[in-house]
Amino acid sequence: MATTEQTFYITTPIFYPNANLHMGHAYSTTLSDIIARYHRLRGERVYFLTGADENTEKVVRAAVKDGKNTEEYLNDIISNFKSLFGKLEISYDQFIRTSDQDVHWPGAEELWKRIAAAGDLEKRAYEGLYCIGHESFITEKELVDGKCPDHDEKPELLKEENYFFKLSKYTGEIKGKIESGELRIIPETRRNEILALLERGLEDVSFSRPASKVTVGIPVPGDDTQRIYVWCDALANYISALDFGKGASELYEKFWPVDVHVIGKDILRFHAAIWPAMLLSAGLPLPKKIFVHGFITSGGKKMSKTLGNVIDPNDLISEYGAESVRYYLARHISPFEDGDLTIEKFKEAYNGELANGLGNLVSRVLKMSVTHGISVNVDKKFTFPIVYTESMDRFKVNEACDYIWKKIQETDQRIQEKQPFKLVKSDLEAAKAEIQYLLKEIYNIAELLAPILPSTSEKIKSLIKENKTPETPLFPRKE
Ligand code: MSP
Repeated sequence: MATTEQTFYITTPIFYPNANLHMGHAYSTTLSDIIARYHRLRGERVYFLTGADENTEKVVRAAVKDGKNTEEYLNDIISNFKSLFGKLEISYDQFIRTSDQDVHWPGAEELWKRIAAAGDLEKRAYEGLYCIGHESFITEKELVDGKCPDHDEKPELLKEENYFFKLSKYTGEIKGKIESGELRIIPETRRNEILALLERGLEDVSFSRPASKVTVGIPVPGDDTQRIYVWCDALANYISALDFGKGASELYEKFWPVDVHVIGKDILRFHAAIWPAMLLSAGLPLPKKIFVHGFITSGGKKMSKTLGNVIDPNDLISEYGAESVRYYLARHISPFEDGDLTIEKFKEAYNGELANGLGNLVSRVLKMSVTHGISVNVDKKFTFPIVYTESMDRFKVNEACDYIWKKIQETDQRIQEKQPFKLVKSDLEAAKAEIQYLLKEIYNIAELLAPILPSTSEKIKSLIKENKTPETPLFPRKE
């Protein structure tokens, strides 16, 4: 009998490799990983894409500063990205690099050709202010003291010929699709933000730069004097990764349209206006959902290299372990708003909720079950409870964590009340039954933890199965 397999395609933004990744970038990726793992555990066929946005002038500049050629520089930094993702247990299926001429370029070129064939690209003379930090044009109005406020840099005045994409033409159609829910923007506040922008109308956007003025970029098909604009190139990654543009593609057939693009709030306009317009122009289906998260702030300001307040995830990982980093991001940063990260808060959550809460409970219960030789039957397939799936399906990963930690607290309380460690002396059978109940509870907690803390979850499950106590604490207390 033919069964239709439920598929789930999820993407992160592709990251600029002009510097190493900080906790803000780790956030997009970790959230996406938790969602991807959750869908895999529900038996869906998941495709999880991440990668790097390489065809940009800021990468060239960073390479020069580092005294390397661009390719060498990129290879080094991409290996840092991958090493971080490895430590953070990011279970991606593909890491795309936009400089990869075999993997990425055919899709980006095909998309360009379709948009051109639709009559939506037009060469125009243009003069405007360009901010390299944003990799986009910026208006006079947006400047503060003549500088881009986000990057503290003066924009360049560009006078050149560009291909323009007729974005304005698609304003109404995109607005309709967002209003009808065909394209869902989550959360509501971001949906309203983009609808207000669409209400004001979209202006056409420059989609290429003269080849003479840029060092990198995909040549415009049929016009060697121009290079495809970074954002047009970058957005195409979501389909080029699925082999779009390379003839019959099983991946594209199976996974497009994407179930969810996970992005930060600063790149909403690119994903919820420009990208859908490109797809409409090319006659391709639109994404189903765009999930927009807030910023990680540090001392109240967006964590960014420009502001100099970055926390290197590698430092936290070496001090506290990767799963603690996943935990903090999942539980203590609200997915829809900005969330602050300081070492003090991190340590407090670590000691209180991981070392004391989870770690302590597991070791107490295992100690009793091992002493009394109690085991549980764990062959049954686990089903996530509805409260949990409702949170996860809405990307409220923090709520799913709250639910798990409520279970931890309840189990702790139950031990206080029933005192099985005392009961063993008066009623051994009752005590054993109680310990077995507790053991089942921590096994369930481990199942719930699987998408969030995959290796801790595995560790707890195998200790229970092997009837062992942990040799070292799961999360040693930090002074
Ligand atoms: N290359 C583009 C994305 C192209 S997608 C087709 C880009 N790259 S980026 O490296 O600057 O940012 C990648 C992601 O990291 C974005 O979603 C951005 O919102 C996120 N973050 C960067 N700093 C952040 C915080 N401080 N907090 C949370 N996420 C932030 O934009």
